[in-house]
Amino acid sequence: MYLKRRNFLLLLGGSAGSIALSTLPGCVGKQQNPVSTESATSTASQSATDAVRFRPVSGPMPLPNDPRSPSEQIQAYQSYEVLDELVLPEEFEYEVIGAWGDTVGNSRFGYNNDYLSFVEAEDGVGYLTINFEYISARTWMQTYPQVIGKSLPFAEVTAAVAKSGKSGTNANALPDGDPLKTQIQQICTEALLDQGLGVITLRRDERGKWVRQPSEADRRVTGISGLSDEFTLKSTGPATAVFRKTQGRGYIDGLGDRIIGTFGNCAGGTTPWGTVLSAEENFQAQVPEPVFPDGTSAPPSQMPFFIDEKTLAGQGNVFGLAGNKYGWIVEIDPSDPLDYGTKHTWLGRYRHEAVGIRAETGKPIAFYSGCDRRGGHIYKFISRQSVSDPRDKANSQLLADGILYAAKFNPDGTGTWIPLTPKTPTDPDLPSNIWGNSILLPSPPNGGYIKAEGENSIKGFKERVKTLGDIYTGTEIEKQGAILIDAHYAANAVGATCAARPEDTEIAPDGSLYIAFTSGMPGGDGGPDKRIFKSLTDEPHEYGWIMRLVEAENEPAALNFTWQMMAAGGEPAEGGWGFANPDNVLLDNRGNLWMVTDISTSKMNQEIPSRLDDSGKAIDRSKMSGAFGNNSLWYFPLQGESAGDAYLFALGPMECEMTGPYFSQDGKSLFVAVQHPGEFGGTRQDGAIETRKFEMLTDGGEAFRQTRQVPIGSNWPDGQNNAPPKPAVVAIYRRDLDSIV
Ligand code: FEO
Ligand code: CA
Ligand code: CA
Ligand code: CA
Repeated sequence: MYLKRRNFLLLLGGSAGSIALSTLPGCVGKQQNPVSTESATSTASQSATDAVRFRPVSGPMPLPNDPRSPSEQIQAYQSYEVLDELVLPEEFEYEVIGAWGDTVGNSRFGYNNDYLSFVEAEDGVGYLTINFEYISARTWMQTYPQVIGKSLPFAEVTAAVAKSGKSGTNANALPDGDPLKTQIQQICTEALLDQGLGVITLRRDERGKWVRQPSEADRRVTGISGLSDEFTLKSTGPATAVFRKTQGRGYIDGLGDRIIGTFGNCAGGTTPWGTVLSAEENFQAQVPEPVFPDGTSAPPSQMPFFIDEKTLAGQGNVFGLAGNKYGWIVEIDPSDPLDYGTKHTWLGRYRHEAVGIRAETGKPIAFYSGCDRRGGHIYKFISRQSVSDPRDKANSQLLADGILYAAKFNPDGTGTWIPLTPKTPTDPDLPSNIWGNSILLPSPPNGGYIKAEGENSIKGFKERVKTLGDIYTGTEIEKQGAILIDAHYAANAVGATCAARPEDTEIAPDGSLYIAFTSGMPGGDGGPDKRIFKSLTDEPHEYGWIMRLVEAENEPAALNFTWQMMAAGGEPAEGGWGFANPDNVLLDNRGNLWMVTDISTSKMNQEIPSRLDDSGKAIDRSKMSGAFGNNSLWYFPLQGESAGDAYLFALGPMECEMTGPYFSQDGKSLFVAVQHPGEFGGTRQDGAIETRKFEMLTDGGEAFRQTRQVPIGSNWPDGQNNAPPKPAVVAIYRRDLDSIV
């Protein structure tokens, strides 16, 4: 499962998944077919252009391609200094394009920028669309007065809510004009304003760098767009039949198929016709996730407002937002100032992250996405109609009619797509095949879900409900709508493979799909399939994988596929490639792969004084995330002399995650979002720094001690002493402004 370099090369030359690793020959030449059809046409000057064109930055551990001896590695890595800076190879520099609090249209640049899409219009002008995913409550509350220049009643509301206990306050039920309700509305308005989408116009200046040039397209779509203005979002597909219901088992907001706002906007994708697809991920933190069998929502009271020094949850409660209207894919045309977004419900409702879209002339659209939860699935939508011109904006209509499928991965490297329709038979996986030994299933007739733990509970479930149509209720279209609204639980019910927190799906030029699975540990939501997602020692694996999936006959509408793990996270000595927790992946215009990591903020740079616990037993590998240092941006050449090696391109500032990498068309600018700097420690105070001890390994597995300097909190991007950390979007350039790739 863990591909070393020579096997990686063979994989690229063969077909994904069709090669059993045990049959890999020991010797592989370098004359493999390149992975991308695009690169196949541009190999003439390969020897000149294949070289990795930067000097990698130095991370905290030796990588698998480290040519040095163990003693030289120990010498080089015995001390390591983490920097509160976006660290790039010396041939590179960056400029901040926009930061939290900057003006955007009639509003402001939001918090925790994630996906970036740059759609270039006429020469030298383009629209940068930015997802603003969530607010990091502790740091947001600490820095809000300084950055936004206003105050909010955090302390008073925290004290009042504490009186309601741990469950929070159902602010929705308070009478209008109640002083506490008014204060909660103030806080939630500001929190939701900092989430959603933003469009800013950029122009290439005389230096060749991108700068803001505000236009009428500059605008924000926030978590409360449409609440007190006319800019509600639209919706398409079968769930609109549920939204339009005036009576049902659960909560109905009375807005029909119009929707207030978008939030939790994590990763996304850009269509060939120039629109942006934005993925609503952790909506369940703000509105209730569970629905009734008719697809209507649990009432707002099930997700009350809660605030303490590090939490700000249930932000939709006070406004009575309907839970079934969040967790979708939003399409927006950045160039149309009047477009505030459309939620396409055929694409399913789950903790969406990632978008891969394949639109080829004469074929249906294939849209891929993943659900970032432990045990979440990979999904594919196939449109009913075919594409006539991939660049035609009318293609948006194709997303309004088709079928949604969920992936079933077989251990032999094959797989199938299971339709999520009323006729599909129920056939959940046995909990014994899942790390954590449980699976959450729909729970008719009361709605919500139940935790199934034994073989008998699965047997009983299949006897009670034979098809998805036995679980969900309403007319045929309403049933289909309810299935799409409850997609994760419906997919569990039909035996879709529980996966390892899929974070990104990216289509390569040859039509294959790259998938980043960020972490394979089980949790309260479920866990991944033990037969697919396992470490070399057959255990759950914290540090993730990158998978490549190839459709049968390479057809977008295929219902069968093959798959292969390409690279695994983890320490080189343990078979990993030296990164941890892959998140967004990106293919550049030469078909090479870029990837950012998402090590949890609370685990980054956590000390490893020893690899043994007090009783002399080896510490669980999943508790060693601290070894990997700050989150980072990696480059994996998929062709030429360097294919199969991993190169570290950038390290993020303290406690951040780098997200949304996106290249300009000419490959000379790389846009990156620096999300949640200072998320754990807030504003770095007076250069605060700690010295921490790590027991590290050389690439061959020899243990050594590293002394590491770790700044606490962040002052990025301003960099001045005690400056508040701000999420911001940067453009990265080579200093000579030549192409990056
Ligand atoms: Fe928002 Fe799953 O990262
Ligand atoms: Ca992500
Ligand atoms: Ca991507
Ligand atoms: Ca993530």
